[in-house]
Parts: sequence; C-alpha cells; structure tokens
Amino acid sequence: MGALPKVLHTVREARQIRHAHDGHRIALVPTMGALHAGHLELIRHARTLAEVVVVSIFVNPLQFGVGEDFERYPRTLEADVSLLADEGIDYVFAPDAAEMYPEGVEILAMHAGPVGATFEGAARPTHFDGMLTVVARLFDIVGPHVAVFGQKDAQQVFLVRQMIAEQGLTVELDIVRTVREQDGLALSSRNRFLDANQRALAHVMPEALAAITLNASHGATAARAAGLHVFANAPLARLDYLDLVDPHTFEAVSDDFQGPVTAVIAAVIGATRLIDTDNLYLGANGADT
Ligand code: PAF
Repeated sequence: MGALPKVLHTVREARQIRHAHDGHRIALVPTMGALHAGHLELIRHARTLAEVVVVSIFVNPLQFGVGEDFERYPRTLEADVSLLADEGIDYVFAPDAAEMYPEGVEILAMHAGPVGATFEGAARPTHFDGMLTVVARLFDIVGPHVAVFGQKDAQQVFLVRQMIAEQGLTVELDIVRTVREQDGLALSSRNRFLDANQRALAHVMPEALAAITLNASHGATAARAAGLHVFANAPLARLDYLDLVDPHTFEAVSDDFQGPVTAVIAAVIGATRLIDTDNLYLGANGADT
C-alpha cells in the first residue's frame, strides 16, 4: 500500500492547503465518496494536471430532495481512503454537514436557472441548486486551479461550467470520459444498490445509447425512436427521459437538427435511479465520416 493521503475534516485545515503549496497547481476532484474505478480515472487525470491533488468526500444533503436516497447513500470513508493510498493523492477533505453548513452562518446559495429545472432537475427540483452550492463552497475553501468532473453527469457539468462563467470564477474545468463495466453500464456509486436481476436489466441504459448512436446519421427522430424502442422491450426499467440536447444550451434539439448533440437518459430500476449520456453527431456526416 502507498502513502495514505492526509485526511482533513475541517474547513480551516482545508483552507491551509493553498498556503502550504503556494506556487503549485492544485486540482480538486469533488466526490460523494463510495469511490469506484470511475472516480480513480478522475483522480489519475487530476494528477496529470496539478502538483497537488485534493479529493473531497462529502455526501451533500442540499442536493438530495425529500424521499431521495440521502440516508441510504453509501458512506465508506475508511475504504475510500485506503483505495486512494496507491493513487498518490495529497489530501482528502472529508467534512461533515455541520462543518460545511455551520448553523448561523450564511452560505452563498447558487441557483441553476432554467436548465436546472429540466431533465434531472425536473425529477429532482432542488438537486442542482444544492449541487452548485456545495461545488461553489468547495471551490472557495480549497481554491483549486482546476476541478475534475466526470462526463456521465452531463447536466451537472453543463451547470458547473455555467456557474463558473456567471460568477467569473477562475477555476478551470476538466472533464473525464465515463468508465464502463464490460457490458457498457456506466460506473456509479448507486450501482451497488442493484440486485443481480436489476443489474442485468441495467444493461438497457448503454444499449439504448448504442441504438441512438447507430441511428444518429438518420436524424433526431430516428435516433430517439431507436433509444425508446430499447426501453419499450424492457418495461421493468422505468424510463424517465431519453433525449438529445444541444451541448451549448442543454435544450432538446429539434427533429431537423444536424450537428453534435448529447444523448441523455434517466431510468429507475428497482428503487435506483440511473443516468447515462453520450456525445454523438446527428445527421449525414456523423458516424460515417
Ligand atoms: O457528482 C457528484 O458526486 C456530486 O454531485 C458532487 C459534484 C461531488 C457535489 O456534491
């Protein structure tokens, strides 16, 4: 086992990182823990971008709505820290809620705006405001030069980018491709909630993305229909949305749209909500070129 990272629990300690490494680049990888190979990919990438890598582990209550899985969200700090031992990480910042949101102290709340109310935000109305609020707070505390996020949460990435632009923040954003299981299922901390049957069924997510991509050269209508067809054959997977969005606006594209799009899918399998995404090109110049 390599050297364990320093585990910091207080905001005061985390604020010292910047001073302790003056003149060095700092990368932040924000996580909610329950680390898996997808997180490790983010972390390894972060190491190529900066001399100092900070991984934050905080299950942020603000981004969970009533009745969502905040209570059952896996909390595995000890295992997470040992997993990071071989990754050459400098710091783990693992505060508790009282530390992040101290009573009587006003925390700057962020608002996701109209895009925050669509897709994931339509199903989880307070999710993106809560997510942006904690990300802004982490940026403020750690002061990273660069922050690394996973492409799987495409709407999250869009909104963090939007917040950085709107707030005039200087932090750079670096996005890492999704890591997948052998059958294509995107890695997620929530996959551990799936039993064997549900896990087998979850294959519908990458299958639908593949069907969309396969039909992308025929246009948006055909591509959407192909994805929906996959879900029609898997009625136990409850599809929430499946759409193609313009990556510049995160709005659903019109039927005659041609150009790069992001496919977004969310479905509930058992009691577990899964999301997935892929970037593709709609229209005749797509996959064939
Ligand atoms: O993607 C996540 O794990 C969370 O939304 C994040 C960015 C760590 C904020 O809590």
